Parts: sequence; structure tokens; C-alpha cells
Amino acid sequence: MRARPMGWRRMVGRGSALIGAAIAVAGWLTVSETTGQDGPREGSARPEYNRKGELIAPKGFRSWVFVGADLSPVYGPALPESTARERQRNAAKEPGTFHNIYINPESYRAFLKTGKFPDPTLLVMEVFKAETRDAKGILTSGEFEGKRVSFEVAVKDEKRLHEGVPWAYYPFELDAQGKPSQPATAAPKASCYDCHLKHASVDNVWVQFYPALRDPE
Ligand code: HEC
Repeated sequence: MRARPMGWRRMVGRGSALIGAAIAVAGWLTVSETTGQDGPREGSARPEYNRKGELIAPKGFRSWVFVGADLSPVYGPALPESTARERQRNAAKEPGTFHNIYINPESYRAFLKTGKFPDPTLLVMEVFKAETRDAKGILTSGEFEGKRVSFEVAVKDEKRLHEGVPWAYYPFELDAQGKPSQPATAAPKASCYDCHLKHASVDNVWVQFYPALRDPE
């Protein structure tokens, strides 16, 4: 008769320990979920889409791996002659742009190990107008990154083929502050993919222009 209450008490004791552990795990999950949304998404960035299949602008990409910066690139070979010439002329006249490119850390590590971009992979390119005059007039030469004028994302997603291929290219519209104003639709293959496929050095990515991928430390 005495064994029963003892056993019961022992079970209650164990039960509350289990509840305690469950609360701790739930708390940890909540914290890590929050970090995933707002903070750096070290190693776990994935493309996110809305119901229409548009890409939601990735958050936290400035703490991903910065692969390289191109200054005033003007794309030639795949453009019609006249457009290419026009752009060359404009580029010579005006200060150009900085193109800053980032990759999600998990894909960066995989690329260093295998030389391949895993599924999924995200690359963000932000473009800033090169400015020559700062408000205080301190700069006498050189250029700095001014207003953000373009925001584009390349996504490799084998579960969501776009016109039959895993890479899709998303040009975002920007608001007056230079922030993406809405999710983006994948551009037609002929506008983006074809040039990347033909001229980029590794699996559609311009590894030839990105030191962190081309010549890792
Ligand atoms: C005529 C060739 C050409 C076309 C067309 C083109 N790109 Fe690119 N793209 C480049 C080059 C060159 C780079 C690397 C240099 C840079 O711009 O900084 C690049 C880089 C990128 C990157 C950085 C990641 C990567 O893949 O290396 C993104 C994102 C990107 N382009 C998006 C787009 C989108 C979106 C379109 C279509 C609206 C597009 N591109 C059309 C030539 C092209």
C-alpha cells in the first residue's frame, strides 16, 4: 500500500522535469525562429515565395558572404550593338555604379568544398550610384556608394523550375528609399538567364568577377 503513493510522487516528479524540459525546448525554438527572421540567417537562408510564386526580398543578406564588388560594369556581348555603344558612352560621361554581390553562407561553404552551387543557392546584387561629392565637401577625388538604384536576386531552386531551368532572376522594384517595394516576378529566361548561361564562368554565376569565389583565402 505504501509503494503506490511513493511511485506516484516519483512519477509526478519526473513529469514536472519533463514539462520543464519541454518548456525549455519551446523557448529555444521560439528564440531561434525569431533570429531566423530578423537577424543574420547564418547557414539557413532559403528562397521564400508568396502564394503567387513571387520571390520575397531576402532579409539579412548583408551578413552573408560578400563575394565581390564590380565598379561600373557595362554588359556588352549579348546586347544589340547600338545599345551597348550607347551604354558605353553614358558610362564614360557619368559616374557609374557599384555592384555589390552576396551569397548565402551555406552555399558559399559548399562551393568552396565541391566547386558547385548547391540547391538552393541565393545571390543578391545591390547596385549603388557612384557619387563624387559628399555633403561636407571632404572628398576631392574618388567615388563612394550613394543611393541604391537596383536590387536583383539570382536563385537556384531545383524544386521550382522557371521555364524548365533551376536558375531564376528577380529584378525588384524599389521605393523612394531604395527598398524593395514588393515581391518580384522571375524575369523571362531570354532577358537574364541566357547571358548568364553563356558568359558566366561557373554554373551561371560570374565567378570570374568575384574574388571570394575565384581565389578563396
Ligand atoms: C548581357 C549579360 C547579362 C544580362 C542580360 C543579365 N545579366 Fe546579370 N550579370 C551580368 C554580369 C556580367 C554580372 C556580374 C557583374 C556585375 O554586374 O556586377 C551579373 C550579375 C548578376 C547578379 C549577381 C549574381 C550572379 O549571378 O553572378 C544578379 C543577381 C543578376 N546579374 C541578375 C540579373 C537579372 C535579374 C537580369 C535580368 C533582368 C540579368 N542579371 C541580366 C550579366 C548579365
